[in-house]
Amino acid sequence: ASTRHVPAVVVGSGYGAAVAALRLGEAGVRTLVLEMGQRWDRPGPDGKVFCGMLDPDQRSTWFKDRTEAPINGVMFLDLANRPIRRHAGVLDRVNFPNMGVYVGRGVGGGSLVNGGMAVVPDRDYFARRFPTVDADEMYRRFFPLANRMLRVNRIPDDFFEASEHYRFARLSRTLAGRAGFDTTFVPNVYSFEHMAAEERGEAPKSALATEVIYGNNHGKFTLDQGYLAEAERTGHVTIAPLHQVTRVQRTATGYALTVREITPDGAPVAEKHVTCDHLFLGAGSLGSTELLLRARENGDLPDLSAEVGEGWGPNGNVMIARANHLWHPTGARQSAIPVLAINDPERQVFAEIAPVPAGIETYLSLYLAITRGEERGRFVYDRAADKAVLQWREGQSAEAVAAARGTFDRINEANGTGYRYDVFRGAKAFADDFCYHPLGGAVLGKATDDHGRVKGYPNLYVTDGALVPGSLGVNPFVTITALAERNLATILAEDIHP
Ligand code: FDA
Repeated sequence: ASTRHVPAVVVGSGYGAAVAALRLGEAGVRTLVLEMGQRWDRPGPDGKVFCGMLDPDQRSTWFKDRTEAPINGVMFLDLANRPIRRHAGVLDRVNFPNMGVYVGRGVGGGSLVNGGMAVVPDRDYFARRFPTVDADEMYRRFFPLANRMLRVNRIPDDFFEASEHYRFARLSRTLAGRAGFDTTFVPNVYSFEHMAAEERGEAPKSALATEVIYGNNHGKFTLDQGYLAEAERTGHVTIAPLHQVTRVQRTATGYALTVREITPDGAPVAEKHVTCDHLFLGAGSLGSTELLLRARENGDLPDLSAEVGEGWGPNGNVMIARANHLWHPTGARQSAIPVLAINDPERQVFAEIAPVPAGIETYLSLYLAITRGEERGRFVYDRAADKAVLQWREGQSAEAVAAARGTFDRINEANGTGYRYDVFRGAKAFADDFCYHPLGGAVLGKATDDHGRVKGYPNLYVTDGALVPGSLGVNPFVTITALAERNLATILAEDIHP
């Protein structure tokens, strides 16, 4: 097989990868982006690029026989999951013992499937998690840059207060207020101008048509429209979808990659070989860690640090299901984009008020709590399966659940309400067995230097959520983007165009 050489390769196309691609392209470095998922730009037979959340088809899920939505059902009805055809769908759930990790698959990574909540972390907590990063520079320069590039906007007050689609959030705010908790608005990359036009019937509906985890057909500013489109416009960046990197080896002057190309239905197309001078791993916490761990354990990159695989956390994610009184309907119509969060400073819980876009009144309130804590898991290499396996013990979620329970017990006490056991798998009110925010595995300053340069291997970089040490206290993508911007600025200046 022929081997192609490019100056730079970026693996993956999520936040960290997209930043690397754009900044390399702007610097005139010819760059190849290898993304295992599809490019989501062609409508299916129904005229839509993405399928809906309530009627999912093969576009929803990455090679499974049945969808694996986080919500099992409502009133024990299986509203959410369907048998489907195996296909390169946009959302994956990677199942490890005690922890299912949701990730986006496609050109744009997690930006395709996520809720768009764009939150800058609390500065003190950020500084504690990243003691070697200049927080002043991050908050002055790189967080504002990330917010600008991602087109973060806020819901106008009058729209929030008047819209029937946010009745669920206003109700949760009232109930939290009775327990003495404040709420804060959460910025988003979903255009609230577009959403208001949806409500007026002047724009095609997406958030107001229950679209989110399987992709938004309108309204959300995803990386393929932002960073990655700009990267391609430099003329130096090429994106290859349906190309999965399976192996990284050292060459005399750089790195050699083994790449598996597949069709959207999973048939092998080719095994390709690519060499490069500079290699940026942006395959996410799971993807980048697996490539490094495999390389260390199979002897391809034997000098990788023992820190590779360490320091993983689910960002303290816990989902909670609460029951409302029958005189407190949440609304049959709900926007799929969350905009409000409950703060519990005493327990350090930041609980986002999540929609239940079921299309019927459910009297259910859902929350995604982001808790803080020091519990960490680690990845180990399973040689027989050639995979990285996350080790996360059941008890490691107890700290996060206890914090969230403290907050929501108080809300229930103040309102005479209780929990719902019909929503999550295993008839639990607190879902602690899955997460949306995998973080760590190649932590900044441990497996890498302070700018994501992998220890022991020159010109090899980690640029994504694998750098973040397990916990941020808020949703992670603004931080992943800002950190990648910071690291790339130094890497370009010192390593690429010194
Ligand atoms: P990211 O995971 O985005 O991208 C990695 C890419 O690499 C993927 O496209 C993957 O297919 C590809 N890849 C992996 N291995 C590869 C290989 N070997 N070869 C080639 N390609 C490979 N965050 C937030 O801040 N606000 C929010 O509202 C939400 N909501 C949310 C909802 C849901 C349902 C999910 C799943 C996640 C969120 N998140 C979120 C989390 C957020 O999306 C996540 O933190 C970022 O996408 C992580 O960015 P990274 O750059 O680390 O990788």
